[in-house]
Amino acid sequence: MKTETQVLVRPARNVRGSVQLPGDKSISHRYAMLAGIAEGKSRLENYSTGADCASTLGCMRALGVKWEKSGNAVEVEGRGLSLAPAAAALDCGNSGSTMRMLSGIVAGQKFSSEMIGDESLSRRPMERVIQPLSEMGAKIDSARGKPPLRISGGALKAIDFKMPVASAQVKSCVLFAGLYADGETRVEEPLRTRDHTEVALRTFGARIERKSLGQGSEARIRGGERLHGVETRIPGDLSSAAFFLCAAAIFPGSQLAVAHLLMNPTRARLLDILMQMGLRISVTELDEVNGELVGSLQVEGAQWKGAAIRGADAAALIDEIPVLAATAPYTEQGLEVRDAKELRVKESDRIAAVAANLRRMGAEVEEFDDGLKIPGGQRLHGAEIDACGDHRIAMAFAVAALRAEGETLIRGAESAAISYPAFFDTLEGLAERN
Ligand code: S3P
Repeated sequence: MKTETQVLVRPARNVRGSVQLPGDKSISHRYAMLAGIAEGKSRLENYSTGADCASTLGCMRALGVKWEKSGNAVEVEGRGLSLAPAAAALDCGNSGSTMRMLSGIVAGQKFSSEMIGDESLSRRPMERVIQPLSEMGAKIDSARGKPPLRISGGALKAIDFKMPVASAQVKSCVLFAGLYADGETRVEEPLRTRDHTEVALRTFGARIERKSLGQGSEARIRGGERLHGVETRIPGDLSSAAFFLCAAAIFPGSQLAVAHLLMNPTRARLLDILMQMGLRISVTELDEVNGELVGSLQVEGAQWKGAAIRGADAAALIDEIPVLAATAPYTEQGLEVRDAKELRVKESDRIAAVAANLRRMGAEVEEFDDGLKIPGGQRLHGAEIDACGDHRIAMAFAVAALRAEGETLIRGAESAAISYPAFFDTLEGLAERN
């Protein structure tokens, strides 16, 4: 049992300083998996410090991959596509990314594996990966579409898969399984989701064809592609930066510098929305590292207007909606989020968690099946927040607390370590008080 920790957040008068983010969580997972099934050594600098990405490394080790960590750099000795059977169940912890993406690799192995997770992960839907992997020929037992998964892998056949939900994890799972399939696997997504898997597969030497299809895209990969190791530095996590960007946004006159940040266009919609809402963002450096855009930002708080997030934007901003929503009462016109039903099956039901915690802070909020409507121009008061075991809820309400009247107690604050163990210290270092 993890012990619950509480963090007290005092109101601030402004936010000022510079931050360097730990490596992007999405990219860290993918690089750790691909480095393990590549031939030769990889060196991954600025690997995510979050517990989720440690779960991925733990599973890779259990599958026979040797790696060593020094500081935040991970050196991986790739085994090629064939992994070794694990002696025990693969523990994915709280990480949906680990279970969903790694299931594609495990399904291609000539042995059986069991994948387990914590209480929250054990409630999350896995049918979305079970269905395509079964169609490819894997045999998967589950607890009615939920973990644990028992996967008997082996000879997979290629499929043409049209994803019913916009999910980068599902897309990645099928593309990874495609590496082990006989023939060409095609994955079509209805709305564009983060493309780190497609970019990373190329970086590790696989041939992959891609094209845009309206608001979505398709990717094709052939089985048997060989991967080689890479040496790279992982860009700073944009979804973690979102907490500081929103902290800057709620204080006119705030100033923030963010260096070496991931700017991949399938993730950077957040920056467009924040600018539309009035945050001043200038990109002071822009570079490409192994197919991923990386930049440095200079940020200034000015106005904080409202926004509406729906359709393709809901998919593009799915991880940032909790902090946008938690800070929405401070906007001038409010925030409306629709088409975001996926938020209900994240680490917690994020729609319910945001609504309940906003109400605890005295806010007016309307909850829909697929979103929220939060009027602007509201004043919040300090309260006791329940993080619901969800890292993004804990961090989102620590940011909202900076402009509340009185102190806010974040219960379940330890969950921030899932993606960002240093979060509270970093936030505290940026907050200016009288
Ligand atoms: C992720 C995809 C998203 C996101 C998650 C990370 C990824 O999940 O919410 O935090 O790295 O591919 P879905 O694929 O379920 O949308």
